[in-house]
Amino acid sequence: MTDSIRFLMCAPDHYDVDYVINPWMEGNIHKSSRDRAVEQWYKLHHILKDRSLVDLVEPQQGWPDMVFTANAGLVLGKTVVLSRFLHKERQGEEPYFKQWFEDHGYTVYELPKDLPFEGAGDALLDREGRWLWAGYGFRSELDSHPYLAKWLDIEVVSLRLTDERFYHLDTCFCPLTGGYLLYYPGAFDAYSNRLIEMRVLPEKRIAIEEADAVNFACNAVNIDRVIVMNKASDRLNQRFADAGFEVVETPLTEFLKAGGAAKCLTLRVTEPVRTEVHANVLVESRTMRMEGHLLDSGLISRALDLIVENGGSFQVLNFNLGEQRQSTSSAEVKVSAPSHDVMEEIVSQLIDLGAVATPQDVCDINVEAVTQEGVAPDDFYVTTIYPTEVRVNGEWVKVENQRMDGAIAVSDTPKGSVAQCKLLRDLKAGEQVIVGVEGIRTVRKTESRTQRSNQQEFSFMGAGVSSERRVELIVEQIAWEMRQIRDQGGKVLVTAGPVVIHTGGGQHLSRLIREGYVQGLLGGNAIAVHDIEQSLMGTSLGVDMQRGVPVRGGHRHHLKIINTIRHYGSIAKAVEHGVLTKGVMYECVKNNVPFALAGSIRDDGPLPDTQMDLIKAQTEYSKLLEGTDLILMLSTMLHSIGVGNMTPAGVKMVCVDINPAVVTKLSDRGSIESVGVVTDVGLFLSLLLQQLEKLTNPYQVLA
Ligand code: ARG
Repeated sequence: MTDSIRFLMCAPDHYDVDYVINPWMEGNIHKSSRDRAVEQWYKLHHILKDRSLVDLVEPQQGWPDMVFTANAGLVLGKTVVLSRFLHKERQGEEPYFKQWFEDHGYTVYELPKDLPFEGAGDALLDREGRWLWAGYGFRSELDSHPYLAKWLDIEVVSLRLTDERFYHLDTCFCPLTGGYLLYYPGAFDAYSNRLIEMRVLPEKRIAIEEADAVNFACNAVNIDRVIVMNKASDRLNQRFADAGFEVVETPLTEFLKAGGAAKCLTLRVTEPVRTEVHANVLVESRTMRMEGHLLDSGLISRALDLIVENGGSFQVLNFNLGEQRQSTSSAEVKVSAPSHDVMEEIVSQLIDLGAVATPQDVCDINVEAVTQEGVAPDDFYVTTIYPTEVRVNGEWVKVENQRMDGAIAVSDTPKGSVAQCKLLRDLKAGEQVIVGVEGIRTVRKTESRTQRSNQQEFSFMGAGVSSERRVELIVEQIAWEMRQIRDQGGKVLVTAGPVVIHTGGGQHLSRLIREGYVQGLLGGNAIAVHDIEQSLMGTSLGVDMQRGVPVRGGHRHHLKIINTIRHYGSIAKAVEHGVLTKGVMYECVKNNVPFALAGSIRDDGPLPDTQMDLIKAQTEYSKLLEGTDLILMLSTMLHSIGVGNMTPAGVKMVCVDINPAVVTKLSDRGSIESVGVVTDVGLFLSLLLQQLEKLTNPYQVLA
């Protein structure tokens, strides 16, 4: 018997399953046998009494879960942090436990109201006393952890629980003598598993399988080399024997019905303090502000979801709900994260949603110099499509060349600070690149309810249920917009795949170019090859475009074409020589519409105009994209995605594809400017021309 170890227990006089506050209780209301529970409890009591001291707290009528004394509070030395139960079903236990601690000479700390923490159920000392493992995710709030660190003067390592069957840390985690750890990895998120693996050597980790976990094997009481638990598999018993532990199994099935077992039924009230160990909180928190149609657009729920999904926690400090349909709301949300890294991940995603630090928290950006050509500092901020501003010397500076997946380089010029989006490969040694998430904000247009319902209409199309009439309506809008852009001297770019030619859209696209609706063409080798094949030989990849049937030997056509253009040296030269006299590429050359063709591994030839150096091709694309108002993406997933990545929010995109998946992928940029149309691209182009014609000669068509 070890005199120095003392447990607190509570006899099961009033124990029952009276309500459901965890998945184990479901279907078990009043299904446990009091007699059997009493018998099992006394057996456990007896086993522990043989090996340590056991104190008792008086059971109370009406508080059936009070037997689970692990949830009374968390003890270290003569200090206790009292539990604040999440569920009202257990909150009534608090005063009784508090009384017991006070009567026994403990200094009792109480958490602020509404900050749940469920004691030793969710906080377990490393058995060497080096730090405290603390759980969150179901019952205890992450924000309680800094209080534990402060009051108990110990380092707190926060672990996130993700499986609701293992709602308390002690249901899936049990530090053992000698630095061993018994735990069920499946109950934690990836980040927490990494934390565990960083702190506990592999040979000290006893990771169990689900079958043992659901028998509450981790809910064990450890006294030196003895481990008391409900049940262990043969395999687990062997593991313990190998590690030099003796297992005492004692059935606790009646308590399993309430979601507890050996450990839950006890609270170790003697936990020695290690004087050399001191507080260290890894938990960080900060307050972010959001503004806009937070409810209408679902922005606030997206923000709160992403905080939790990334392992953080939140508290909505205030929410000013805009009362009118058009008025915006604002909110301040306190975000907590178990570590600095997690905080940065969460904050960078919140910035994407338009959140900013509160005025009292906002500070300048942090920069680090590039030390290796083409390589950003580790912690660099990754850009998005949204207009971004960065705070340099107290001033907000707009980022130039906004695009996604870049880094932001900041330089001092005589005219002030300049911030620019740059691709990694373009970073020069010595350049100052923004790291972390401080001093960055994105400016998002507030999505109104009307805009959102339009979007829903388009995704309705995306779902593949678009009626022809609906396609017509969308095309009408697009035509109107293109007409507008042309009249105002704006810029429309087209990305096109060979399907445009195969589906008979070549003639329509040619006309769009000829009539000044297109200011640039982006594609690959294939669109040009098949367009020229059609112009010169009447086939597209060997299919007769008039009759729609394959031509004998037609598959050779495209190579003949490639050879011809190679002979002249370029598409433009073939036009000059009068060889190429119609089609999309011909119109580009004739009307001085620039094009960029990006090569790929499957290209035949290629055409002399095709840029096979992809880095150069990307540069050509982005040059052409500068200042674009609208992009028509016609049946090319590859080139359209490439273009999407280079384009800042605010540029309207129309994506047309027969495959709904492609449309969804491309129009789902989280920006309201993209429109998806699921239809045959040839048909789309023909409709578009009809609509444009209507706009030019309204009476003629009506007549
Ligand atoms: N029915 C109790 C609850 O849901 C069980 C508590 C188990 N205690 C524990 N430390 N895991 O709160």
